[in-house]
Amino acid sequence: MKIQEIKFKGSPHSYSVLIGNKTLNLLPNKIKSLCPKTKKIALILDRNVPKKFKKFLKNKLNKYELVILNFHASEKSKSIKTVNLFVEKLLQLNFNRADLILGVGGGITGDVAGFVASIYKRGINYINIPTTLLAQVDASIGGKTGVNSNYGKNLIGSFYQPKLVVSDTSVLDSLSKIDFICGYAEILKHAIIKDKNFFYWLKKNSKNIFSKKPDHLNYAIKKSCLIKMFFVNQDVNERNQRMILNFGHTFAHALEINNKFSKKISHGEAVLTGMMLEARLSVLTGLCSYKTLNDIVNIYKENSLSYTLKKFSKSESIKKLLPFLKNDKKNDDKKINFVLLKAIGKTTQPNKNKITLKDLKKFSNLLINRNF
Ligand SMILES: NC(=O)c1ccc[n+]([C@@H]2O[C@H](COP(=O)([O-])OP(=O)(O)OC[C@H]3O[C@@H](n4cnc5c(N)ncnc54)[C@H](O)[C@@H]3O)[C@@H](O)[C@H]2O)c1
Repeated sequence: MKIQEIKFKGSPHSYSVLIGNKTLNLLPNKIKSLCPKTKKIALILDRNVPKKFKKFLKNKLNKYELVILNFHASEKSKSIKTVNLFVEKLLQLNFNRADLILGVGGGITGDVAGFVASIYKRGINYINIPTTLLAQVDASIGGKTGVNSNYGKNLIGSFYQPKLVVSDTSVLDSLSKIDFICGYAEILKHAIIKDKNFFYWLKKNSKNIFSKKPDHLNYAIKKSCLIKMFFVNQDVNERNQRMILNFGHTFAHALEINNKFSKKISHGEAVLTGMMLEARLSVLTGLCSYKTLNDIVNIYKENSLSYTLKKFSKSESIKKLLPFLKNDKKNDDKKINFVLLKAIGKTTQPNKNKITLKDLKKFSNLLINRNF
């Protein structure tokens, strides 16, 4: 199986994303060429990464002075307190800027490890090894790093690009179904907002992604990374175009907040529910056709994902979500700033579809209507 390489051209430096089975084999040579002065490597390691993968990784790096920093990834431990612990440990061990931090884990680990790297002595070498599907198709791309605060998610952070991203798909075998769905939700979102052909490819091939057929999985990860990069490249600091990546997330965040970020709803399920609600809103506001909505409905049905909307909008009236929609970070006035859908592969521009709470209340019963 051929390894895919995507080159991300950006500032302050360009970097590659390697995708495929056993891409980890390439790591030692890459470190040698990208970080030639590195002597010490700190592995910030998600404790749920399978033992086999950890052992393989440690063997690959046996020429370096290795420090393992085990990490129990949760939204609670994604905190400034954890960051401080890691930074103090690296200072104590006298890491310098020529040394290297490797983040190995899902999106939480990547966000924390990347943030530590960005502030440690004002920036130390960083390589990201994402081990969840969501991290491989989304979180590892774009250079956003950070942690949560008591006031909300991802409120403390930085933009910091890694030297390399290594997405080894062999590590995904141990991923839970629900975590796999989280990654798939973002793949589907990328297709819906940007690429009609990819969407129709997904219509045919999503079953192969869920059964982890290597060629299909690699292709979906690569396409997803390219679409995310397309938006990131246009808007590295998230002022405008990058907001299109938030399709489905306005409602998703409100659902997550309303459920107090509990295990009752995963982020992926919230995104799947949110995309459906925002596609429906796009139809109700006359922006997109029923056919487009039906195409999306069908892909949910064919992959047993329709339960999301049924489950999470059953007891939830949209009205209950409204207060949380008001706090969405895309809003810059009292209206809700949605990115809506015009057709598959085409969205409205950010800041062009603001809806007042009054209008949203009018739509709210229709949005959860079973016969929509
Ligand atoms: N920086 C960005 O641009 C960006 C984008 C999207 C999401 N995020 C962030 O990513 C986080 C979500 O990422 P996530 O869904 O990967 O969550 P996560 O990091 O919590 O990982 C999900 C679960 O999978 C476990 N895990 C990791 N690798 C595994 C493996 N190979 N096998 C079995 N279990 C494994 C983790 O321990 C965790 O329990 C959120 O905090 C979100 O804010 C960041």
